Amino acid sequence: MSGKCLGIWLLIVMAILHVAACAEAPQATEQATASSPGGEISLPAPRLDGEMSLEEAIANRRSVREFTEERLSLEEISQLLWAAQGITDPRGLRAAPSAGALYPLELYVAVAEAVYHYLPTGHALQVLWQEDLRREFWQAGLRQGALQEAPAIFVVTGVYQRTEAKYGERAERYVKLEAGHAAQNILLQAVALELGAVPIGAFYDDQVQAALALPLDHQPLYLIPVGHPER
Ligand SMILES: Cc1cc2nc3c(=O)[nH]c(=O)nc-3n(C[C@H](O)[C@H](O)[C@H](O)COP(=O)(O)O)c2cc1C
Repeated sequence: MSGKCLGIWLLIVMAILHVAACAEAPQATEQATASSPGGEISLPAPRLDGEMSLEEAIANRRSVREFTEERLSLEEISQLLWAAQGITDPRGLRAAPSAGALYPLELYVAVAEAVYHYLPTGHALQVLWQEDLRREFWQAGLRQGALQEAPAIFVVTGVYQRTEAKYGERAERYVKLEAGHAAQNILLQAVALELGAVPIGAFYDDQVQAALALPLDHQPLYLIPVGHPER
């Protein structure tokens, strides 16, 4: 092989190695960030198109309570959180409506390796604990099987005070209605991603609050286990 040919081959090999290193870099960063409670993980940008129409998602939605062991990808978690509370407008308005645009909901997601708090601004996850707390939610949720099997449990909580400041006694009603909007978006987005989910309202509030070490004014409103449906 001539010296020129060898040079070209060397350049090609270096380019391939560079591309491979770049492809792995985000994962390494995520793992490094995830190892520190309080650290943040940037979520992949949500997709604004999909394979399934809204009508199909509505028609196909059923409560799913049995899941395979397959975990959710970061892209799937990102998409589900965006559907619930993602920012969809430059003015800061979100995917689900909110009385007075006061946004009293806070979302959490528990997976095998950690519990995260969703930060709509910046579309990121804040690492709360590096522990598997799903068993605590299963206990809090009257040991319902869906909470034991799901690879991810989304927790919708509401902070009534944020809405009370403007709407007084109507606030509790409004915050609960908003939890319904956000939950339905998660459920329909799950269908569109070929995932399954069930909204769970039967749980001990204080146990969910304790598991997440929530401030007392954060009221847990829904647990939503999500996973790949067992067929
Ligand atoms: C407010 C609310 C609370 C619910 N709580 C539970 C629950 O604790 N456990 C459960 O398995 N399903 C729960 N569900 C799901 C219902 O059982 C389910 O929606 C109903 O059986 C209708 O079936 P579908 O969702 O497949 O249409 C709840 C649904 C709603 C709207």
